[in-house]
Amino acid sequence: MVKSMKADLHADLVVVANRLPVDRVTNPDGSQGWRTSPGGLVTAIEPVLNDNDGVWIGWPGGTDEAMEPFTDNGLHLVPLSMSEQEIEEHYEGFSNATLWPLYHDLAARPEFHREWWDTYQRVNRRFAEKAAEVAAEGGTVWVHDYQLQLVPAMLRELRPDLTIGFYLHIPFPPGELFQQLPWRRQILEGLLGADLVGFQLAGAAQNFIRLVRQRVGHKTHRDLVYLPDGRTVRATAFPISIDARGLDELSRTESVVKRSEEIREALGNPRKVFLGVDRLDYTKGIYARLRAFAEVIADGHFDVDDAVFVQVAVPSREQVETYKVLRDEIERLVGRINGDHGKLGQPAIHYLHSSYPREEMAALYRTADVMVVTPYRDGMNLVAKEYVACRANDDGALVLSEFAGAADELRQAWLVNPYDLNGMKQALLDAYRAEDRELGRRMRAMRKTIRQHDVAAWADSFMSSLAEVRGAHRKTLQP
Ligand code: G6P
Repeated sequence: MVKSMKADLHADLVVVANRLPVDRVTNPDGSQGWRTSPGGLVTAIEPVLNDNDGVWIGWPGGTDEAMEPFTDNGLHLVPLSMSEQEIEEHYEGFSNATLWPLYHDLAARPEFHREWWDTYQRVNRRFAEKAAEVAAEGGTVWVHDYQLQLVPAMLRELRPDLTIGFYLHIPFPPGELFQQLPWRRQILEGLLGADLVGFQLAGAAQNFIRLVRQRVGHKTHRDLVYLPDGRTVRATAFPISIDARGLDELSRTESVVKRSEEIREALGNPRKVFLGVDRLDYTKGIYARLRAFAEVIADGHFDVDDAVFVQVAVPSREQVETYKVLRDEIERLVGRINGDHGKLGQPAIHYLHSSYPREEMAALYRTADVMVVTPYRDGMNLVAKEYVACRANDDGALVLSEFAGAADELRQAWLVNPYDLNGMKQALLDAYRAEDRELGRRMRAMRKTIRQHDVAAWADSFMSSLAEVRGAHRKTLQP
């Protein structure tokens, strides 16, 4: 349901993210509507927003002219439009061709362009101004991710009464890499506008604190930064998670169980199904993982009657050059592997360049005997957690890169170094051959972990830390 929102927006809680949590859809009658985006963030934040009658500011995608705020499924949404140039230079350029590769261990070569930086600043300022406009006196603003790192400081300048939280969903790199950025100091100062800066892992928070001490020259102690004006900023880890219970329930529904049986049938009833699910991104290690699988076949350990690989590659950032090149490389490799190892009607790799609804994903996870998640670097990787949540029978193997944030928690996975092809081959084979008892032991432990640390716990923990600093902040504001 979409309705337009009252003009008097003064929200106690404002979420600011590059994207709105809804995607545009065309209804059967041809009219335009919105659908809540798949993914956990909105599930996590929705209850918090509802409790606080909050609003969400974000880009609706595309280049539409200014849109009015509206309400969809109870969520108050404030769209912030971007021009073609802003999409090119802020979104595709500085966010996804400069910061993304730099923050992911240089998985591609970051490009540094001064015009992109100018536009990044301009778009960040527009987000900050919009947040300043809609936040109630003394309210809280929660800013998300690498596209908006300047918003906290810009917003603080406009509205010193606000409590500001920032959460980075992707890794925060070590100083050796971060220092390549010509605008490194401005980014650090941008983040320091927040009262609380959240990261996926403790190591990322430490990278940030160390850089602030060395580059900006502020005093720090443990997870605190002391600013010259008397304010303190806390930087700490809040590992994100998923709606574990919701997915577990979904994976047990009759329709998902039935769909899972259909999928296995459609794959030719192999003994084992391997699965990869990723945005088509060069950080995800899709190429190396498919090569490893093909080599295991070539070495004669199994063939396509025994095992097939389903790779879901969700289209992503398709205008960015490195993503175009990656797509070509992967599709060429899939063709070659199927040419070498497939049989009539039985490809070795089932490659799907598409995104799917939650139900279909749950059915795929339920079907997969071996889930393969091998990024070169990943903030968390929620696919690994979603797989675990969908294994209601305590079976199935997870092969997981040690460079995904999730590896800190999912210790019972078969952990691999994605740069080590032989190591990956061995892990695929070990997971393929593992006995039921071993699988059960590992999966039970991982399921316990994600049940205890679900996305609601993540949001609660961030919001309560923010409320704590808010208390401290209020005191310093009083005369
Ligand atoms: C990652 C980022 C998000 C981003 C998402 C999808 O998870 O952390 O900020 O929204 O990828 O990428 P896109 O470029 O389509 O927004």
